[in-house]
Amino acid sequence: MSETVGILTGGGDCPGLNAVIRAVTRRSLDRGCRVVGVREGWRGLVENRVEELGQREISGILPRGGTIVGTSRTNPYKSEDGVTRALATTKEIGLDALVAIGGEDTLGVAARLHAEEGFPVVGVPKTIDNDLSGTDYTFGFDTAVFVATEAIDRLHTTAESHNRVMVVEVMGRHTGWIAVMSGIAGGADVILIPEQPMTVEECCDELRRRHGRGKDFSIVVVSEGYELTYASGESRRVAGEPAATDQFGHVRLGGVGDELAREIEERTGFETRVTVLGHVQRGGTPTPHDRVLATRFGLKAADLVEERAWGQMAALQGDTIVAVPLEEAVKELKRVPPEWYDVAKAFFG
Ligand code: F6P
Repeated sequence: MSETVGILTGGGDCPGLNAVIRAVTRRSLDRGCRVVGVREGWRGLVENRVEELGQREISGILPRGGTIVGTSRTNPYKSEDGVTRALATTKEIGLDALVAIGGEDTLGVAARLHAEEGFPVVGVPKTIDNDLSGTDYTFGFDTAVFVATEAIDRLHTTAESHNRVMVVEVMGRHTGWIAVMSGIAGGADVILIPEQPMTVEECCDELRRRHGRGKDFSIVVVSEGYELTYASGESRRVAGEPAATDQFGHVRLGGVGDELAREIEERTGFETRVTVLGHVQRGGTPTPHDRVLATRFGLKAADLVEERAWGQMAALQGDTIVAVPLEEAVKELKRVPPEWYDVAKAFFG
């Protein structure tokens, strides 16, 4: 009897998810396996919601954003019988292997299921934030940086024409990868990220210095996860509705750009506006780079299934796709190294 390979996508959607689904499905079908899509992340496994994936289902999905199997932030460890039900579904549908595509949360569940239940799972790293360890880059990141850079380029026009400071808030829950890369690419004058808590006062000093050089407009890029930090030592995270946490305990971020813009205008007197890019960074078609990376990850994941390399994750190291243990990937976040921030800082002020 042929093997059944399941595929699920968890966490925020991300450009390139469909390219991974296509690659895993294509290679698994070529090997004579049956492939099923598990609907909406771990929720589909808990609630037994799966659908067949064949050649027809994966046709034309390579350039499509989002995920054809849906996603959610369901954590089976958050409900009393979540894991029991997930294991029951696995048995009922005769799942021999699962490819879990996700970030720290989704892969954290995969790692735990593998370690505690011997679950036959392999992982594929996904996040626009690029904050997963074990891999140099995740797919989706390049697309997010592309979108953010294009926005910065466009905002330059208004900044220059109106002599304004334009604050651009980009995603990045724990790390400043998108801010730093798009900021370097877009020529930002100040970049604020969680890893390097520059103070509000220092930010304003840089802007004054720049204006003192005769430049009467500026671009400030800020990560949503940056805590407003002051010279007094006080720091404050800006979040959305306080009650809005997901099953992994994350608060809904967004809004630091508004507060920062207000501070800048009040302290410097420079007219300041803000643009929050939000989910635009995650939407739409993946860049060619992300399509290729996602495809290579998908093929590797299918190979890991064939090798029965459970508990492993496809990863990019240098230019090579390798396998790393899931535990290693979720152990700690990959933060922006100071060397990268130094590149950005050379153009501040
Ligand atoms: O983890 C990726 C990410 O895009 C974060 O940068 C952001 O904080 C989060 O997802 C927001 O996700 P959502 O609004 O879909 O819950």
